Amino acid sequence: MTDEAQAQVGGPPTALTAHSGAPLSGETTAPGDKSISHRSLILGALARGVTDIKGLLEGEDVRRTAAAMAAFGARVERLGPGRWRVDGAGGFSEPADVVDCGNAGTGVRLIMGAASGFPLTATFTGDGSLRGRPMGRVLKPLGLMGATWMGREGNRLPLSLRGGDLQAIRYVLPEPSAQVKSAVLLAGLNAWGETRIVEPVLTRDHTERMLRAFGAEVSVEDGPEGRLISLKGGQALKAVAVQVPGDPSSAAFPIVAALITPGSSVTVRGVLLNPLRCGLFDTLKEMGADLEITNERSAGGETVGDITARHSRLRGVTVPEDRAASMIDEYPILAVAAACASGPTVMRGLGELRIKESDRIALMAAGLTACGVQVEEEPEGMIVVGTADANHPVRGGAMATTHGDHRIAMSFLVLGLAARAPVSVDQPAMIATSFPGFTSLMASLGARIEAA
Ligand code: S3P
Repeated sequence: MTDEAQAQVGGPPTALTAHSGAPLSGETTAPGDKSISHRSLILGALARGVTDIKGLLEGEDVRRTAAAMAAFGARVERLGPGRWRVDGAGGFSEPADVVDCGNAGTGVRLIMGAASGFPLTATFTGDGSLRGRPMGRVLKPLGLMGATWMGREGNRLPLSLRGGDLQAIRYVLPEPSAQVKSAVLLAGLNAWGETRIVEPVLTRDHTERMLRAFGAEVSVEDGPEGRLISLKGGQALKAVAVQVPGDPSSAAFPIVAALITPGSSVTVRGVLLNPLRCGLFDTLKEMGADLEITNERSAGGETVGDITARHSRLRGVTVPEDRAASMIDEYPILAVAAACASGPTVMRGLGELRIKESDRIALMAAGLTACGVQVEEEPEGMIVVGTADANHPVRGGAMATTHGDHRIAMSFLVLGLAARAPVSVDQPAMIATSFPGFTSLMASLGARIEAA
């Protein structure tokens, strides 16, 4: 049993502590991509027929989506590790009970979009973090299409959504959010007319790619306002086999761990290389990282490859703001790499980071400061001043508060592998939302992360 699972079984969450030690070495495979895992279950449930999924991420977030799809009328079965089968009814029916999406913002926002297309009422809720996150960003366009809802003030969960008889809209995305784009596209599948979405800033395009794989016609063209994505309503989806590639957002943790731990060389196999997801790797290369991508191949309509990371002397950079959407989940681990670099790394244009599973700017700034790193927090960004090199590692020696955010927890554990004194994190059980088996995977590379 992994330490994070043990922490979960053992009742109240304990802490995990990462210690520096031997170099990291070896090969591993990244867990399945979270974004594609959610989408394969949702599209499988919307389609008619059997969708066979291989490599599904079996994290808590995705399991909640699997349970939600069963609640909306699909037959969802686990056949073995990562192997799932969804027998879709060609549409959603009304769930008998409240749909609890746990910690998953992607899950609930995409499912609300898909559910809006059907004449049903569904009540959605989530854990404390999800109930605090803004849902107005998806409810606004869904409302313009004709969905109605009742919920707490400020458009927070829990809320009851009534769908059906939607009209297509043209919607310019006010924030760079693939979740909002995807919710509108999924609603548009069952709306009257053609749904058009304009994306001034490009975000991950898995929904567009996967809708096509499931037989829908989706047109994508670049225009003066940005990218225009159009989809005619009334298209039926056909079940297909889905092979989920490895998640670059999860691969980021062993990769950065190898870059900052002297003497390390680690290969992560089968990582999704979609350019709209790879901003972190571009940034790390600009910082001087020795990253090598080999064995590039096509898998399930995406390019995947193996990434080898070797310990490197990193230097601070200014991250272009227009890169943010392609690495939005990777800023916590980039901040760790920046702490182990020389000179300041400037990260701006990150207002979205304050409304993720936690306020990631505030928690990274607080935890890094507690570990002896100089950080300047800004309303929409942060500057991390790295003073470290192999002879002068980050001090460490602190307990980072995670507010139950999986990526904050994994980031500080990675820092602990290269710090002078151990680094601990609270609520480690939450790591299982996106990366079940994180501690055993890291241990297989030589990392010392222990319950403490
Ligand atoms: C996701 C989109 C991003 C990302 C999230 C997954 C998706 O959120 O942070 O982890 O699968 O569409 P936003 O769309 O809110 O930026």
